[in-house]
Amino acid sequence: MSISEVNGRNVRSDELHDRALERSPGGVHSNVRLRGPHPFIRSAKGAWLFSVDGRDYVDYLLGQGPNFLGHAPDQVIQAVSAACRDGLIYGGQHEPEIQAAELVCSVAKWPDMVRFSVSGTEAVQAALRLARAATGRTEIIRFQGHYHGWLDNIFVGEHDGTWGAASAGQVADHLRPCHILPWNDAELLVEKFEQYGSRLAAVIMEPIMINAGVIEPLPGYLETVRELCDRYGVVLIFDEVISGFRIALGGAVERYGVTPDLATYGKAFAGGFPVAAVVGRQDLMCRFGTGEVNHSGTFNSSVMAMAAVTATLTSLRDQPPYAKVGEHGRALMSGLLDIAARHDVNLRVAGLPAAFHVSFGDAQVRDYRSLQQLDLARYERLAAALVDNGIWLAGRGVWYVSAAHGARELDAALTRFDKTLEEWKVKAEQ
Ligand SMILES: Cc1ncc(COP(=O)(O)O)c(C=O)c1O
Repeated sequence: MSISEVNGRNVRSDELHDRALERSPGGVHSNVRLRGPHPFIRSAKGAWLFSVDGRDYVDYLLGQGPNFLGHAPDQVIQAVSAACRDGLIYGGQHEPEIQAAELVCSVAKWPDMVRFSVSGTEAVQAALRLARAATGRTEIIRFQGHYHGWLDNIFVGEHDGTWGAASAGQVADHLRPCHILPWNDAELLVEKFEQYGSRLAAVIMEPIMINAGVIEPLPGYLETVRELCDRYGVVLIFDEVISGFRIALGGAVERYGVTPDLATYGKAFAGGFPVAAVVGRQDLMCRFGTGEVNHSGTFNSSVMAMAAVTATLTSLRDQPPYAKVGEHGRALMSGLLDIAARHDVNLRVAGLPAAFHVSFGDAQVRDYRSLQQLDLARYERLAAALVDNGIWLAGRGVWYVSAAHGARELDAALTRFDKTLEEWKVKAEQ
């Protein structure tokens, strides 16, 4: 295959980008992709992406998480293809959606009931609405640096030290019931619950803050949150859209031993297909069933989605990839650190083998604010250079490992990482 590269530029990708700009704002269909990586992809299989310019990339972005079984996993593609022959959307119920819901409950172990949706954003909205209906309250606590989708009532960002709406056009009033707190600070949370705990409908969090820094909860933090929610009658929502079925078969609930009232899942549990879910206790979830709380969606629980969830969860349950993912992730994390040390670069690698964070610096990181003490801009430049050398990553520092990563990918990743740091040295980038 020819490589359409001139002076380091991806010629065909550049042509396609110019064409895309004509019809799609920014040339992308999700603002998350505005910041790259930019080469256009022709195909993907296992842990590899192949570009229209004839290059290959060992993938540690996994489509922002969904490809936990690798790209185009045979067992999922076959199951979905077979199921689709019998139709896609019925506007009625079908047995595969029962099977998928049963599997989610039995594999995750703690939930009683499931409602499927298409995106994690929607699943979060369903959980918040349910919590508000069940408690008769509107206020919620959410945390700095956690991401729960892009809608007005939950999407936040920091500007000059103040947290609020993150996008132009967002109705800031929709965030009024939302207290935005630093995470991992149990004392602060106790104080806030004493002030307004009886007004709260829900506390929502990523139980491990993967979206910003892959930061684990401090020992006892989740237990304190659970205890406060119980004491004040507040619904605890774990947003496991990234952590679910990835950091362990039972997600963060299994790893940390704290059970929420509701949770949201997505990404890893559907082998790359667009599916998400809100799950939880029967006494809460049943409010959807009486019609009291609305949760709707034309494409919810499509034949395709249900076949994907069933095939993916069956695979994760019967051939658990967690030991292999752990082995690869640990070897990669220590390999990156060894190479960086050899090049005299103060790389920081932290998190879990299935999802870890790479940056520069040596701050003690426990929340969003302390994460900002790291040199995140410098990492963003490194990520762009790594993409140029064939490692597929985004600039915010998270590396995801899949079941398809093995010795060949480890070797390629470390060789390409080494080459990138060598080039940086030559360019005096460091
Ligand atoms: C923790 C978390 N919740 C919710 C979402 C939103 O999911 P989606 O992009 O499928 O709408 C994401 C997306 O990355 C996420 O990471």
